[in-house]
Amino acid sequence: MRFISSRTQFEGEFFLPGDKSITHRAVMLNAGADGEAVVTNALMGEDCISTCRAMQALGADVQTDGTTIQVKGTPCFQTGKRLDCGNSGTTMRLLTGFVAGKGIQATLYGDASLSSRPMNRIAKPLSLLGAKVTTTDGHAPILVEPSTLCGADISLEVASAQVKSAVLLAGISAEGKTSVTEPVLSRDHTERMLKAMGADIAVDGKKTTVSKSALRAVDVCVPSDISSAAYFMALGALKGYTVCKNVGVNPTRTGILRAFDKLGVQYTLNNRRVSGGEETADIAVKRSTLKAITLTAEDVPAMIDELPLIALLCAFADGESIISGAKELRVKESDRIATTAELINRMGGECYAREDGFIIRGKKKLIGGDVDSYLDHRIAMTAAVGLIASEKGGNIAREECCAISFPDFFDKLDV
Ligand code: S3P
Repeated sequence: MRFISSRTQFEGEFFLPGDKSITHRAVMLNAGADGEAVVTNALMGEDCISTCRAMQALGADVQTDGTTIQVKGTPCFQTGKRLDCGNSGTTMRLLTGFVAGKGIQATLYGDASLSSRPMNRIAKPLSLLGAKVTTTDGHAPILVEPSTLCGADISLEVASAQVKSAVLLAGISAEGKTSVTEPVLSRDHTERMLKAMGADIAVDGKKTTVSKSALRAVDVCVPSDISSAAYFMALGALKGYTVCKNVGVNPTRTGILRAFDKLGVQYTLNNRRVSGGEETADIAVKRSTLKAITLTAEDVPAMIDELPLIALLCAFADGESIISGAKELRVKESDRIATTAELINRMGGECYAREDGFIIRGKKKLIGGDVDSYLDHRIAMTAAVGLIASEKGGNIAREECCAISFPDFFDKLDV
């Protein structure tokens, strides 16, 4: 339990941890490549540690030193292992595709939250490639058994980078061509990294095609995670002025900036550059008067992890905001439609949960109060932003779960 006081002002320049999605991929893809790679500014959150441990269990040489990870693959992955994915959906879903591609047997399991999340969404498309993936009633534990993979054309029902990546990681080991098409483009870090590693890959809008490819290891310098920066950007908008340095601004991840445009948040992107195939920038945000917004399904994938925070910002706006087409939030680390609505309401806001999103009646303020993280890192961090910007502050219970993606979050906030 941690008390968060309200503040009238929040200012500063912040270096946020490395991107979670890119760190997972840098470790997993390099472990499956020829040669040795160094990953710098890696996120050492619990989710990425789950990926490092799983790759070690499979026989890769993965050494960590602070935020640097050295990765060396193995030509002969260990079979018959039980792989602990912890709380991490990205570890479990990408690794299922990876293991299927290596033709080995493995059992993937996770904690209670991960074990309640849907896994048929990967089992189904992978089985179309010939993979033998057996879930436990659509959930983890997942058993992957050796099989020969053959390319196929796959259309995904949900826009999910985790599912798309699982198919691509299996597809680079399949005979022939594998293509995967999504309803709305999701984050494309896997595609970019596979390309940098020499894979035969072509992207055409929402359709990506890969052929059997040997990968060569590449060093990755990980940009800061826009999903972690988002909390500091929001505090700049609500309470003063913040600058987040060297943040990844890959367009498939910058939905929050498009939400900022609608909300009327004043921000600038400075020092734009490209590093390792990913765009980065320093993002400066200043105190802004917020107005109500509407977001729909097309907007959602590029801001999926920021939606609880965006809903919170809507509570500080003037008027009624509507967020729809976000049903995927129901199957994240918590049911984020239910938990976000409850969080905002407990702090004195007015948020109504709908099947696929929210209606938020913005009152330009929150009172504060005692809240819970529901053991969901993004809800814990959204709560902290809400309480800092509220009139009275309040306690967050079970806030330690922010270590999943941002271990020193509360130190950085200085609370
Ligand atoms: C991720 C993709 C998203 C996101 C998750 C990380 C990834 O999940 O919510 O935090 O690294 O591929 P979905 O692909 O299931 O939407």
